[in-house]
Amino acid sequence: MIPYGRQSIDEDDIAAVAAALRSDYLTTGPRVEAFEADLAQATGAAHAVVCNSGTAALYIAARALGLGPGDVAIVPSMTFLATASAPFLAGAEIVFADVDPDTGLMRPEDLERAIAEARRRFPEGRLAAAFVVHLNGQCADMPALKALCDARDLFLVEDACHALGGATRRADEPEAAGREARVGDTRWSHLACFSFHPVKTIAMGEGGAVTTQDAALAEALRLHRNHGMVRDPERWRHRDMGFDAGGEPNPWYYELETPGLNFRVPDVLCALGSSQLKKLDRFVAGRAEVVAHYDRAIAGLAPAILGPAKVPWGRPAWHLFAARVDWATLGVERGAAMRLLRAQAVGTQVHYIPLHRQPFWERRYGRQDLSGAEAYYAAALSLPLFAAMEYADVGRVVQSLEKLSAGAAQPRSP
Ligand SMILES: Cc1ncc(COP(=O)(O)O)c(C=O)c1O
Repeated sequence: MIPYGRQSIDEDDIAAVAAALRSDYLTTGPRVEAFEADLAQATGAAHAVVCNSGTAALYIAARALGLGPGDVAIVPSMTFLATASAPFLAGAEIVFADVDPDTGLMRPEDLERAIAEARRRFPEGRLAAAFVVHLNGQCADMPALKALCDARDLFLVEDACHALGGATRRADEPEAAGREARVGDTRWSHLACFSFHPVKTIAMGEGGAVTTQDAALAEALRLHRNHGMVRDPERWRHRDMGFDAGGEPNPWYYELETPGLNFRVPDVLCALGSSQLKKLDRFVAGRAEVVAHYDRAIAGLAPAILGPAKVPWGRPAWHLFAARVDWATLGVERGAAMRLLRAQAVGTQVHYIPLHRQPFWERRYGRQDLSGAEAYYAAALSLPLFAAMEYADVGRVVQSLEKLSAGAAQPRSP
């Protein structure tokens, strides 16, 4: 089976995890801070706060920004559930933005329309934040989105779960100017959130992180990662309980600043994260080669099957190879095609069902028409993509697609 995504684990990773297991700390030990330092260096951010999933990263980001009841956050409809669930569970209402039907990315005009919609729908609410998703590993037009957010005093959060290792630049600046910003350095945002799920660019099993240039936000992220509890004596409010008669802090003491949950990530997994991060450039380059090979190999299947639409700025860190399929021209429905491909040992997926069409959100906000997201969804089919994928694997996937288009493959009986 060629899965649609998979991790690359080698002996270095196994040795790093084994060393952590043999150490004194399974969690809350030195490997957490070491991984944070490695991640800050890899992204160019001043601070990295690691946690136990991309979902947790989005949630502590929302809490650190103070999102809560009375606030409104804008989220593109074309993303995974967690991008909207996180700010919603922090207390904010969500307004979904449309996306480019070809790339699936939220454009400045989509954000502007969503801002107007938020004002109309929640006239009493404080429009507080916009979340932007670097879908498939390509960056949205960050400088333009940031300018819009600045003009309206909105926080801008990057859901960069797909994009670790990528870079972006101003759309109007030639590549030759060389002024790229690494994804996660938050040059054009307040916070960037990452996932280290096994299909992502680096794998920890479960893991995530938020990066920022802002020390106060980093401190707030740490607070919300760990129950909302304060261990720093300088921030305690009850001096009588926190300090002894001699003015020394009591060693057992902590205070609750605000109720929170446990989003800490164990040292064992941080060891894996640091070890994987050393190979980030290789993983990103490997995925880029596979994408280039796919692009050449599927050219003959146009117009029924096209590769992903590319944005003209920055350097993607390809997470998914999201083919765009005209099912009518191909002559087969998407579900049947996925079953036929599976029968030929080719794993595929669909990223994503537009959030505004999810029953929960439809019940809450009513049926919306976001035609860009719906058109993107209608055509989307993620083909296998991972760093260790061989050209021969790409060849097999493309042959299976050719059989589909020729109608040669027959479904297996159930
Ligand atoms: C765009 C996006 N956001 C958030 C998440 C959540 O990450 P995790 O699975 O690590 O919780 C994912 C992962 O599937 C994702 O693809």
